[in-house]
Order: sequence, then structure tokens, then C-alpha cells
Amino acid sequence: METQVITTVKEWVKAAAVEDFPQNGGAAVLINGEQIAVFNFTNEGRWYATQNRCPHKGEMAISRGLTGDSDGLHKVACPFHKKTFSLEDGKCLTDEGYQLKTYPVKIEDGFVYVGIE
Ligand code: FES
Repeated sequence: METQVITTVKEWVKAAAVEDFPQNGGAAVLINGEQIAVFNFTNEGRWYATQNRCPHKGEMAISRGLTGDSDGLHKVACPFHKKTFSLEDGKCLTDEGYQLKTYPVKIEDGFVYVGIE
């Protein structure tokens, strides 16, 4: 499957206030009709955003996945069948056939913004 990395941001959409997201966890937001999973790695000051729909069986569950890292690579495991994705580029680390769409994230004035192409 092709890697979907957004390179051109057309619009930064305000998702929510920083404090609305759990520390070292994820939450889903609705942006332009699409559920997007936003992850806050509080300890490292890193944020990520991906599609919330798992490409395996279509469950809206990525934001509720177990997060972690291996060798500095932040990742999330879907709670349904544990397919694990890199949060850097959305690649499935356990099955090459799956890919998450990723979005850039920025923090400004206490709010989280997601970049939409
Ligand atoms: S629905 Fe996510 S791993 Fe199966």
C-alpha cells in the first residue's frame, strides 16, 4: 500500500485546547467530517495525528489504542486486533498491507491544530 504523507498544509484546523487531551494518550476529534486521532506524548513534548479509522476492519478505534515506543519510534496498537502503526508515518509495523493517514500537528497559544491538505 502507498504511503500517505501530507506534505502541503492548506489549512490548520483548531482541534481543541491542549488540556482537553489526555497526557501520554490519545483522543479523537472531528475535523471536516473526519474522525482524527490526536496523540499527546507529554513526556517528550511530541504530538501526532492520524486517521481514527483502523484500516484493518474499519473500527473507529485508533485514538483508544495502546501507545508506546521502540527505539524512539512512537507507535500505537489498535485495541481490536493489535495491528501496530508508526505514528511518524502511519506505516503498519505488523502487517505491510495497512497504512494510516497522518497529519501534521502544531501547538499555538494553548490550542492543538491539525494540518489538513
Ligand atoms: S480493526 Fe484495528 S486491528 Fe483490526
